[in-house]
Amino acid sequence: MEIKISKRLETIAAMVPKSIVADIGSDHGKLMIELFNSGKITKGYAVENKKGPYNRLVKALEEEGVIDHVIPMLSDGITELPKCVTTVVIAGMGGKAIVNILKKDLRKLDNVETLVIDAHSCIPFVRDEVSKIGYSISEEKIIKEDGIFYEIIRFTKSDVAFYSDDDIEFGPILRKEKSALFKEKYQSRIDEIDNLISSKKLPYNRIAILTAEKTKLETIL
Ligand SMILES: C[S@@+](CC[C@H](N)C(=O)[O-])C[C@H]1O[C@@H](n2cnc3c(N)ncnc32)[C@H](O)[C@@H]1O
Repeated sequence: MEIKISKRLETIAAMVPKSIVADIGSDHGKLMIELFNSGKITKGYAVENKKGPYNRLVKALEEEGVIDHVIPMLSDGITELPKCVTTVVIAGMGGKAIVNILKKDLRKLDNVETLVIDAHSCIPFVRDEVSKIGYSISEEKIIKEDGIFYEIIRFTKSDVAFYSDDDIEFGPILRKEKSALFKEKYQSRIDEIDNLISSKKLPYNRIAILTAEKTKLETIL
């Protein structure tokens, strides 16, 4: 049966290389089902650390008839990651939670060549931290779905990765591409800052901070 997935999950799936994949925080299992049904993977792991989502996951994998290929695991992050896994996906969580999951046991990443990350907050923090644990950014996509911007980052194992402050903040690939969506995201923040400043209800120091942010954003557009 063909399942319907969001543009966000579709984008993540397209950024996953042919490999053995573990999706950490798999919840409904839609990403792994899509990866299997599209032929991107022949084997993978769907990891959940909570009983409720885990039971939902098992049911979805059974209903789709993929449970012999996409193996559900009730476990915490990458702590029980099988050695055969070469790609890890972590999507739909805050950036700090994602970094905590990855840094909990770095040895588990020894065989992991690719990380595909969809952080819903603290994206610069994710770029900074993940590039310090032996990965560099090989692909970035910005999408907008239901009025929300998402930045999805693929990291590939590499010895050295050096990024400027602007690379970390805005993404080394995204800021060079300057796609229409990238511009829209930061233009809407500039408009928001203009509205805040013109409301005349802000203390001087807050206006100074917002003005500095606006000036910075104007330089990257
Ligand atoms: C908001 S859902 C995102 C689901 C899916 N990845 C997506 O992007 O649509 C986050 C899921 O991650 C699970 N989760 C959070 N921390 C986890 C951890 N340390 N290990 C495994 N699963 C975790 C939660 O139980 C929840 O089902």
